[in-house]
This record gives sequence, C-alpha cells and structure tokens, in this order.
Amino acid sequence: MPVSARVSKGNVLTLGGVSTEVLARDFGTPLWIMCQDTIEAAAREIAAGLQHYPAGALPCYAGKAFLCTAMVRLVDKLGFGLDVVSKGEIETALAANFKGSIYLHGNNKTDEELALAVKHNLKVVADNQQDLERLVQLHSKTERTTPTEVLLRIIPGIDLDTHDHIKTGHDTSKFGIPLSQLNDTIAYCLSEKSIKLMGLHAHIGSQAMDLEPFQQVIEVFADIYEEVSKRFSYVLPHLDIGGGLGIAYVASDKPIALEEWTRTISNKMVEAFQEKRGLPLPSLSIEPGRCLVGTAGVTLYRVGRMKQLEQINYLSVDGGMADNPRPITYQAAYTAMVANRMEPREEHLKTWTIVGRYCESGDIIVEEAQLDAAPGDIIAIFATGAYNYSMASNYNRTARPACVLVKDGHSELMIAPETEEDLLRLDRIPSWLK
Ligand SMILES: Cc1ncc(COP(=O)(O)O)c(C=O)c1O
Repeated sequence: MPVSARVSKGNVLTLGGVSTEVLARDFGTPLWIMCQDTIEAAAREIAAGLQHYPAGALPCYAGKAFLCTAMVRLVDKLGFGLDVVSKGEIETALAANFKGSIYLHGNNKTDEELALAVKHNLKVVADNQQDLERLVQLHSKTERTTPTEVLLRIIPGIDLDTHDHIKTGHDTSKFGIPLSQLNDTIAYCLSEKSIKLMGLHAHIGSQAMDLEPFQQVIEVFADIYEEVSKRFSYVLPHLDIGGGLGIAYVASDKPIALEEWTRTISNKMVEAFQEKRGLPLPSLSIEPGRCLVGTAGVTLYRVGRMKQLEQINYLSVDGGMADNPRPITYQAAYTAMVANRMEPREEHLKTWTIVGRYCESGDIIVEEAQLDAAPGDIIAIFATGAYNYSMASNYNRTARPACVLVKDGHSELMIAPETEEDLLRLDRIPSWLK
C-alpha cells in the first residue's frame, strides 16, 4: 500500500489524505491514483543506500514504468536522472524541461531518436554495433563538436528468477551485446571521435526478489573492466547496473528493502573492483522503475455485475486488461480491497474472481479475493503504479482513464481522461469508402 494509505472513521480508504470515495466521484472510475509521498519515500531509500559510494552514484528513473510530464517534474525534483526508450519519452522529458541526465535505451533505436540524443546531449546506451554506426553518421551531419557519451549494454549471461517475459540478462536475450563481440565494439568506440565511451550497462530483468543476481553481475563487470584496462589501456569511468528490484503485489511477495538493495550494490562494487582486483572505482548509475513508482499506484474500479456460478463467483468491474495488461500478459497477481468498506462485515465475505469488462476470458484482475462487496462499491487494486498506465491500451475502443496525483489532502490530474472524441480524432475514412 502507499505510505499515505489510511482508513477513515467512515471505514473508507484514503490516499494522500483524500477519500477514495471522493476521488472516484470527482474523477470517475476506473482511476489511476499516484501517491507522491510514496514515490518520495522510495527515492530517499534508494539514495540513502548509494550515498556513501565513494565514486559517486546517480539513480536514474526508468521512465517506461510510468511517464508523463508531471512525473518528469517529480523525477527532476528528486534529483534523479531519467531513462527513456522512445521519441515519445524523449519529447515528454523535453516538454517538462528535464534538467538532469537523460539516457537513451532501446534495442532498435530510430534515426530520429538518435538524432534527438545528439541534439539534446542525451547519453546513449548502445545495444548493438549498428546503434554506434548510426550515431557516428548522425554526428557527422551536425555542427556538434563534442562527443556523445555512450554506454554499451552487454548480455551478462545471468538468468534472473522471474517471469520469462521480463528476463533480460540471459544468454539468448534480445537486449545487449554478446560478450564474444564486446572487444570489437569497444575498439570501434575508441576509434571514433564522436563517441566518448563511458562504460558498460546491464539490466538483468525485472521483479527481482533476490540480491544475488546483482552481486553476480557486478563480478561479471569487474572481470570485463579489468580485461578492458589491460587490453585497451583504457579505464572505463562509469558503470550502469540497470534496475529490476521487485515489489510486493500480494502478501507472499517479500521484496528486498530499497536501501538494502542500493547499499548492497554499492558495497559489492567496492569489494569486486577495489578490494578484489585493485581496479579504480567507476562512477555508478542504477535504473529503478517499478520499485520507485509501483507501490505508489492504486487503481479504483466500480463494481458492476456480480455473477454466481456453481463453481465460481465473478465480480465485474468497469476496467481491466486495457488499463492493466499485466495479469493477462504475465499472469501477474494483485491484491484487492473494497475501498468504501475497508473493514468487511464477516458474514458478507465471499470469494470473488475479479474480472474486467473486456472481451477476453483472460481479463482477470484477481483470481480469488475474499471480499464483502456489492454493486456500486469501489474496488481498490494496489501496486498499480508501474507498467499499468504505460502499458495501457484502447482495447474494445475504450478511453484510457485519468491519473491523479495525491498529496497532503490535495488531488490533481497528472493525466486527463481520454474521451471518445480522442479515439475518433485520428480516424480517417479512405476516399473509396466515403
Ligand atoms: C534498461 C532498463 N533499465 C531499467 C528498467 C527498469 O526495470 P524495473 O522497472 O524492473 O526497475 C528496465 C525495464 O525493463 C530496462 O529495460
């Protein structure tokens, strides 16, 4: 739950000091709510574990988890850098006048994205040799005389214990440069004056519940940094360890505390680089996405039809897989409560399967929830701050809901709700159908 979650005297969930009944009434449902205090608390923890890293460390928020201009402003205020992966995310950062460091990621960057990186002095995390070649060509077409800072994303060969679709560090990952090709890529970078090779990057996957893979990847990096300094007489000055720390979606999830995560990374860096191998310490960046914003988010739905079959009870809500595609995509589990009756009446408790309104049998938000619920009640689904809005769709031609930021008794839109007009705005009728 968000750190600001409380239950009012009237038995209603409040977030950021605002009643969820009032939020649902004023902004409608479905509704994404983000709690600013939770994001700020997570940021403080992340920074606390990094603050004693001797060579300096910068947390960079992975915008793919949840990005809009208000979020960019908040990230700037937190003093974090920002990771982007698309023109849309770059333009969002620029529109919000982001002041910090921006890193451009992606396994298939467009020329437009790379040109924006050159123009706006973004750092480029190269995923492959072609990224670098295109970057060099684009440089040659500009007036820019300073090189672009580049990190090379590697495939470290680490198989994270998580859902297959969110593993990214295993040998057959589509992301990154295989270690067998790394020396050639480094040689290329060092020979090009428009590239300033800063270091290596790896992101091993998402929803990690264990510290060991992060320690393993640091050992892989330390070996490579040692080899690079010998082979090329070049000391890589920076290292980026990616993101990936998991959060709790259900009671059985036991995530690592954020400060422990970053402190462990920081200590392991010192051990693996300095103490074990006598290498100079690179400056460090990490890329938390989910663990910065995930727990801050709560989705509110209104209960609609309730259907009792012999084997199963269905409770339908007014949203589902279009605003939260994670369950149908990764069989992700969530926790649900009745926001307007937080303390249930024991005799009304029943097991419900909470389903969305979309035309897919897999549109199930929670498989089995013990709820005291009735039509018109508000269902709160917790930990929806990451990869919900950012992965949302207009499936069944539904409009995306609003997103509201809450803090200290205030609630304001971060993202206005779409309307059917927005859906129709981009439609065109080819002449032969008119
Ligand atoms: C390169 C990179 N960095 C960081 C992240 C953020 O991961 P998470 O949200 O699990 O922290 C991702 C997620 O896919 C990523 O691809």
